[in-house]
Amino acid sequence: MILPEVIREEKVDVLIIGAGAAGVRTAIALHHYNISCKLVTKREFGDAHTIMASGGINASLGSLDQEDNWGIHAADTLREGHFLNDPKIVEHVCKFAPEAVKELDKWGCPFNKTDANSINQRFFGAQSFRRTCFVGDRTGKAILDTLVSKAKSLKIPCQDGVYIFHILKAKGRVVGALGLDKKKGDFIHFKSSCVVLAAGGYASIYERSSSRKDENLGDTIHLSYHAGAKLMDMEMVQFHPTGMTAPESYIGKLVTEAVRGEGGFLFNNNGDRFMTEYSPEKKELDARDEVARAIAKEIEMGNGTEEGGVYLDITHKDADFIKARLPKMYNRFLALGVDMSKEAIQVAPTCHYSMGGAEVDLQSGATNVPGLFAVGEAISGMHGANRLGGNSLIETLVLGNSFGQKIAETFEFLEDKENTGEVKKQANEYLQNIIGCEDPGVFIQKIKKLMWNHAGIIRKETYLRKGLEELEALKAEIKGCAKPISKLSVDLIWQNLDLRNVVLSSELVLKTALYRKESRGAHYREDYPRTEEDWKKNILVYMGKDGRFQLETKLPGPVSEEVEKALQSNYSLSYHQLE
Ligand code: FUM
Repeated sequence: MILPEVIREEKVDVLIIGAGAAGVRTAIALHHYNISCKLVTKREFGDAHTIMASGGINASLGSLDQEDNWGIHAADTLREGHFLNDPKIVEHVCKFAPEAVKELDKWGCPFNKTDANSINQRFFGAQSFRRTCFVGDRTGKAILDTLVSKAKSLKIPCQDGVYIFHILKAKGRVVGALGLDKKKGDFIHFKSSCVVLAAGGYASIYERSSSRKDENLGDTIHLSYHAGAKLMDMEMVQFHPTGMTAPESYIGKLVTEAVRGEGGFLFNNNGDRFMTEYSPEKKELDARDEVARAIAKEIEMGNGTEEGGVYLDITHKDADFIKARLPKMYNRFLALGVDMSKEAIQVAPTCHYSMGGAEVDLQSGATNVPGLFAVGEAISGMHGANRLGGNSLIETLVLGNSFGQKIAETFEFLEDKENTGEVKKQANEYLQNIIGCEDPGVFIQKIKKLMWNHAGIIRKETYLRKGLEELEALKAEIKGCAKPISKLSVDLIWQNLDLRNVVLSSELVLKTALYRKESRGAHYREDYPRTEEDWKKNILVYMGKDGRFQLETKLPGPVSEEVEKALQSNYSLSYHQLE
């Protein structure tokens, strides 16, 4: 049982929701400019989703391929995003990527090095050069460890086990947020002059996902939508070609793209290296959407393995090389009884990343709601219709740094009179009106299944409509059995907050996927298989003043001359190096 009212108030200049690489890098930048901030995380400090990123981080360092430069990196990113990206964000991230990676190296991130002691770089899909820097196959964990230890050395506070579930506003601007403290079992009213959303994406609204079951459930989507922020590209969800297929508790877990980047081949159950047919030039290292669809097709045609996947085989490489470059994968499979240096492993597509999120200003990460900012997977713009592997980690570092700096430069301290008893009253009213059910986990599972079946790798109108119908029926069922949260345990309230986020994110994905009548990048419509020039526009959704769902479109901005030149030059990886 829990009292549905605010018990504690905490004051902080900038509240950062989420303590993954994006949140922590923003906090470090704010600290540098003397703005105090606090990170809050649902998990423990150092255990954010960033640690699941494995294969690497992109920066055109040219350690091995000296012709590479930021313009070609930007061109690859735009091509992979099928030109739905915001070119200004892309150019900014690619330009500052080398500096961001070198800074991390200086802070002690143990990057793999070449014999000449430069940061080593590996092949990754759909990139023109070896551009992906790495720490074996645990790059995300190494990066987050480095950032967390830097933040701790600067004494930046992080509060663990807190679920932020509502943004508080007064006179149209953000004045704080409401959180649930799991350990103490009470509600906190954070009073802050601004709030930064760094709480990740919504890839876990799918049954098979490389995220852990209880993360990336769309927290940012619920928070920003209900605060009045615009969300963009919600239909764009990335399916990674290679997720695990067994045992049950491992299904969907990431098998890093680095296995293919280091030379792994894909085979179907008949022993055919099928990517040579689907993509004769780029083969296993084609874009993720192409490889994922090819695998799905092979499985659908009955060419799948007994675990319902295909084979990923790197046994032609030396065992010592595999152990050195892919230690996490090697040890994980070995513990499950498969020595990947001696036999092929089985893989199938898994939901991996959400390209959609808050629409933000390039300079500062500001949303259209005064005082509300966003960074990392919480935003849209960088990746367009599909993300290049290795680009999410770099986005967190570059934008975390530059947004933090800009937020600090424009920071306006909110006097207490802006955040008075009125806001507290509003917070308590909000809490008294939240309802929840006794079995949120069951509903979450049903929705995840529905999304996998109706809004997955291959979409079409009938599937999407059916998905929406089923979702509406589940929403009615949830409402029918809901009760005030004062009658629920803290654990159940927590799970009901997850359920709200999953319901809204799923609805927005289904509606926008239905609206986009073409195929582009990760969004493949069997009934509209072509990419249409007329559809080269972003879909935005938001809650109108009347509380109703609104949808509009906008055109992406122009590409700079430098990047246009790189696009025209059509650089391409010489794939024979992998054979
Ligand atoms: O496959 C991977 O290692 C994933 C990397 C990424 O999504 O950036």
